[in-house]
Amino acid sequence: MKTILDQSAEPLEAFKEFRRAYPDYENTHLLDELRESDFSRLDAQGHIYLDYTGGGLYGQSQIDRHMDLLRGTVFGNPHSTNPTSLRTSELIEKTRDHVLDFFNASPEEYGIVFTANASQAMKLVGESYPFDVGDNFLLTFDNHNSVNGIREFDRAHGSTTTYIPVVPPDMRVAEDSLEHALKLATTGENNLFAFPAQSNFSGVQHPLGWIKRAQACGWDVLLDAAAFVPTNRLDLGQWHPDYVALSFYKMFGYPTGVGALIARWPALKKLHRPWFAGGTITVASVQADRYYLAEGAAAFEDGTLDYTNIPAVDFGLDFLESVGLEQIHLRVRCLTDWLLQNLLSLRHRNGKQLVQLFGPSGLESRGATITLNLKDRNGQTIDHDIIERLAKERKISLRTGCFCNPGAGEVALGLSKQELLKCFQSSTQSMTYDDFRLCIDGRSVGAVRISTGIASNFMDAFSFLKFTKQFLDK
Ligand SMILES: Cc1ncc(COP(=O)(O)O)c(C=O)c1O
Repeated sequence: MKTILDQSAEPLEAFKEFRRAYPDYENTHLLDELRESDFSRLDAQGHIYLDYTGGGLYGQSQIDRHMDLLRGTVFGNPHSTNPTSLRTSELIEKTRDHVLDFFNASPEEYGIVFTANASQAMKLVGESYPFDVGDNFLLTFDNHNSVNGIREFDRAHGSTTTYIPVVPPDMRVAEDSLEHALKLATTGENNLFAFPAQSNFSGVQHPLGWIKRAQACGWDVLLDAAAFVPTNRLDLGQWHPDYVALSFYKMFGYPTGVGALIARWPALKKLHRPWFAGGTITVASVQADRYYLAEGAAAFEDGTLDYTNIPAVDFGLDFLESVGLEQIHLRVRCLTDWLLQNLLSLRHRNGKQLVQLFGPSGLESRGATITLNLKDRNGQTIDHDIIERLAKERKISLRTGCFCNPGAGEVALGLSKQELLKCFQSSTQSMTYDDFRLCIDGRSVGAVRISTGIASNFMDAFSFLKFTKQFLDK
C-alpha cells in the first residue's frame, strides 16, 4: 500500500533524517499498521488530526466489537434482577474490574464511579467534599475549568481557595511556591489539593511525587488525569491520589459520554452527597421523609448508568492494551521532540523567532501537547483565529483559544489581575469572547495547541511544520 510519504521527495528525506535521529521510533511500527487498519479513515479523507488532547480517536476494531455486542445482547436496565438486567450488570462490573486493573489499582484500596466525563467526576468531588469554614482548597493555576469550578462549592461553604502560580516560559510550579502552599493545610480540618497530572495547556507533567508529599501535610489529593492517561501510564499501585478524574473518550475515542471518578475507599466515604437519586439509595420514603444511601460507588452513580456504552470502555481498554501504551508513549515523545526542535528553529529572515512556545522546550516531564503562538517578522502575534482558518483549509485539526484553562492562558499571555478585574467589573451580566478581547485592547487572548496520540505518524508532524513555515517572513 502506498502512503503519503511515497508521493514526494521532501517528506521522504525528512522522514529518513527523523528515523536517524530517533532510532527508537522503529519500535513503534505496529502503530503504522494500525493507522492503515484501524484508522484508515484519516488518510482516506485527508485529515491531519492534531487534537488528541481535545479528543482521542477510536480504532475501527473497537467499534466492530461493540456493534457485535449490541447486536447479540439483550440489555435490560441494571436496576433489577431479571435475566437481561443481570447480563447488563455483569458487563458493567467486568468493565469496572478492567478499569481497576488497567490502572493497577487494588480493589481493596480503590473504587470506580462511572460518570459522564471527567468534569462530572470533579463535580462529584466538589459538591460532596465536606468544605466548611476553616477548610482549604488548593490548586495550581494551570487547572482545567472543571477543576477551577470546585472553588464555587468551597466558597459557598466559607472555605478558602488558594492558587499556586505557574511560571512562564516553562509553565511549571516553583519549588518554594509549592512548599509554601502545602503548609497552608489546617490541622484537623478538610484540605483538598487539586492538580493536573498533565496540563492540557502547556503539556507540563507535574511530579506525581506531590501526591504523597501533600498527603503528608494533611491534604486530600484530587488528580486530574484527563490529559495524562491517553499516552502515559498511571500506576495506582505506585501513586495513591485520593481521587482521580478522567474521560474515556480522551484515551480511546469511543464511547463518548463515559468517564470515571477513581477514589480511595476512605476518601469516597468522606464525601457527603447533597442529594439522592434513583440508583443511589437502598431505601427512601416519602411519608417518613428519610432515605438510606447505597454503599460505595453506587451512592455516586445518579440514575441509570450509560449501560450500553460502558462495555465499550472494556473494549477500548483491550484495544489500548493490545497496542501497548508504552509504544504510544514512545511514539508521541519522538514526534513531540522533533516538532519542538523544528518549530523552535524557525526564524524570519531578520532573525526573529516565528514560534513562541508556552511550556517546556524539552521532553523532561512534559507530554505530547504543544501550545504556541506565531509571531510575524515584526514580533507581533498572528491571531490564532487566522491560523485556525488556514489550518482548516488544509484539513488540519488543531485547537485554538485558551482550552478551558484560563489560569495558564493568563500567565502565558501576560494578562494581569488588574486588567482582568477591570473587564469583569465592566459587565456583571454577561460578556462574549469578542467583548472580552476588546476589553483587553484587542490583544490576543489565546494560543494554538497541537497534540499527538495513538494514530499519529511522522507525516502529521511534518504537515504541521510545513503549514507553519508559510508564516515565515510575513
Ligand atoms: C486536563 C483536563 N481536565 C479536564 C477536562 C474535562 O474533560 P471533559 O470535558 O471530558 O469532562 C479536560 C478536557 O479537555 C482536560 O484536558
